Amino acid sequence: MAITSVLSLCTILLAGAAQVSAQQTVWGQCGGNDWSGPTDCESGSYCSELNEWYAQCVPGTGMCPFPRFLISTMRSPDYCLIRQLVDDMRFIDPTPPPITTTTPPPPVTTTTPDDPVTTTTPSDPETTPSQPTGGPSDGEGFENGWDQSAWPTYAPSCNQGGTVALDSSKAHSGSNSIKVTGGSSGYCGHIFFGTTQVPSGNVYVRTYLMTQTALDANHISFITMPDSGVKSLRIGGQNGILMFNRESDDATLPDLSPQGVASSKSLVANNWHCFEYLLGTDGSIQTWLDGTVVDGLTVGGGASNPNSNGWGTSYTPNISGVYFGWESYSGGVNTMWYDDIVIGSSRTGC
Ligand SMILES: *[C@@H]1O[C@H](CO)[C@@H](O)[C@H](O)[C@H]1NC(C)=O
Repeated sequence: MAITSVLSLCTILLAGAAQVSAQQTVWGQCGGNDWSGPTDCESGSYCSELNEWYAQCVPGTGMCPFPRFLISTMRSPDYCLIRQLVDDMRFIDPTPPPITTTTPPPPVTTTTPDDPVTTTTPSDPETTPSQPTGGPSDGEGFENGWDQSAWPTYAPSCNQGGTVALDSSKAHSGSNSIKVTGGSSGYCGHIFFGTTQVPSGNVYVRTYLMTQTALDANHISFITMPDSGVKSLRIGGQNGILMFNRESDDATLPDLSPQGVASSKSLVANNWHCFEYLLGTDGSIQTWLDGTVVDGLTVGGGASNPNSNGWGTSYTPNISGVYFGWESYSGGVNTMWYDDIVIGSSRTGC
């Protein structure tokens, strides 16, 4: 089909869409498989596809992305009605991939000399997974305050409303934690704090974290890591579950199919979770929540994850910092707490 005829068809479709009464507001969802709400965006915004399961209204003009449409196969960073037509034809009879259970290799536990004992609140209902040997490090618990030269704030591109503060009213251990309050101005309400002290080679990150409200359908990140190859590697949520996300191509781990969503886990609000992950020099990623491997957040390293098709196998993380906070791409607002952070070359445990 000639580009001009695609252009005319798209123009006709867009003109038709203008007559649809319900319009989604900016940052609202406007498409994706299983979406039955409005697909038309309010004036000044257009519908942008993040993946086949989620599209949202973003500020800008709704030009149909012809070159991208023409070269796209299964994924397209943009969205328009003609694309939806193609999707409708392609996904008439989708066959779900077989679900296979993967058993990643057992975690490496390292003995780390313990810091002086830190008391935990006896009434804390949380059960801490036991460690086979040694004891996990307390890490950075901000008991001596928030050293902003070691843990500076980070808000790439814009900062409108998000705040970071030392909080002496909540703590996983000791009496302090860092509280991050997301701003309400969408992406620019983001704010993080973190460090560029990242070991070369395998990187293990352990943090205790707590959310004020449960993760919902909105796409958000609570950890972001600059990575020259993909702009940033992020960890956050969408569809209520934990996921990795690459900024450059918006790929998610796991795929946000029903099977992919089922392979990950959620966070319980107002509950300290031990969150750990490994970024391997071989491109592998492994994640533990409260000491248990999360299958959907695993790739490479000998494990096969049937829900990692969007992620692929060609990416090797190469991060230059680890930042903890809050960033939203579709309006979600939340407050997060972080405590007892360890970033090192071996696994610390919980
Ligand atoms: C990793 O990133 C750094 C910049 O942070 C860059 O200089 C280096 O070339 C990258 N390494 C690889 C293997 O891409």
